[in-house]
Amino acid sequence: MLVDGFQRRITYLRLSVTDRCDLRCTYCMPERMRFLPRAEVLSLEELHRLALAFVDRGVTRIRLTGGEPLVRRDMIDLVRALGRKLGDGLEEVTLTTNGTQLARHAEALAAAGVRRINVSLDTLDRARFARLSRRDALPQVIEGIAAAKAAGLKVKINTVALKGENESELPALIDWAHGEGHGITLIEVMPMGEVEADRVDQYLPLDAVREELERRWTLTPSSHRTGGPARYFDIAETGGRLGLITPLSENFCAGCNRMRVTTSGQLYPCLGGGERVDLRAALRRDPGPEALDAALDRALAIKPERHAFRIDRRGEAPAQPRTMSATGG
Ligand code: 5AD
Ligand code: SF4
Repeated sequence: MLVDGFQRRITYLRLSVTDRCDLRCTYCMPERMRFLPRAEVLSLEELHRLALAFVDRGVTRIRLTGGEPLVRRDMIDLVRALGRKLGDGLEEVTLTTNGTQLARHAEALAAAGVRRINVSLDTLDRARFARLSRRDALPQVIEGIAAAKAAGLKVKINTVALKGENESELPALIDWAHGEGHGITLIEVMPMGEVEADRVDQYLPLDAVREELERRWTLTPSSHRTGGPARYFDIAETGGRLGLITPLSENFCAGCNRMRVTTSGQLYPCLGGGERVDLRAALRRDPGPEALDAALDRALAIKPERHAFRIDRRGEAPAQPRTMSATGG
């Protein structure tokens, strides 16, 4: 089993299958992003071996992330391979996607055993979407979400709350998501990686957003739990569920159940920490499980108690130099 130095059991793996993305969200990456050379990236077989090693050690849920996972060509093969492990130690395979390629892949994902997906969507306004993501792709994303719903996938919308940007649109986004039968979770922007803007100008604390929403709607704390960092509320008027993820305004690390592996096989036991274990080296050194198991034990030993995110001073360096897309957002 995977239990860290603070008695937290690790049952959830976020595995990044590519650091590439077809969007360039301004809070995530710079316009001229440098991506990893192919040789650095784990092969399909390596990703599969790695995932199974985690399942052998008690991980029951795997989320495939990126970058944008659906821009990797053999991504569906990995989903199919993991799908065959469902019910045999693995309980769930999910993915986080920006939705641009979803219309093409929704059926195949559902057929491979995926039941739920998270789609990142920060605005329903086409011009704002184009400005925020630097690509005019909102119609594709909306089409992708509709295709996912039609394929029977449960959709949750993830929205990064951005000061002065989508701030005024958040009620409309929640209303839309709930009207479509989707859950929605708002996320505070985190100081990961260098971007052109100052994080101080982007950061919108969600306690203020919640107060604003409570003037409009009746929010009741929900008993819904996923083992993740979100706190949930039921909104009486929309009949839907709202999640809030507050890494800055309210720390939730005590219940952390996860680890992240990057596209190049680097395990980061904490999103906000610099601690790292090279699983790729272990994979490539040893065809058996020993080196990988030893590497996982090292990761458990160095998993920090909590992250130390803060956004309170202008011009401050990011908490970590790597972007969310490099870490497995
Ligand atoms: N802070 C918060 N969320 C971020 N994401 C990407 N970069 C950041 C950041 N710096 C989000 C994406 C997506 C999820 C995978 O992470 O919008 O919803
Ligand atoms: Fe791509 Fe997601 Fe980063 Fe936007 S936030 S650039 S969709 S990885």
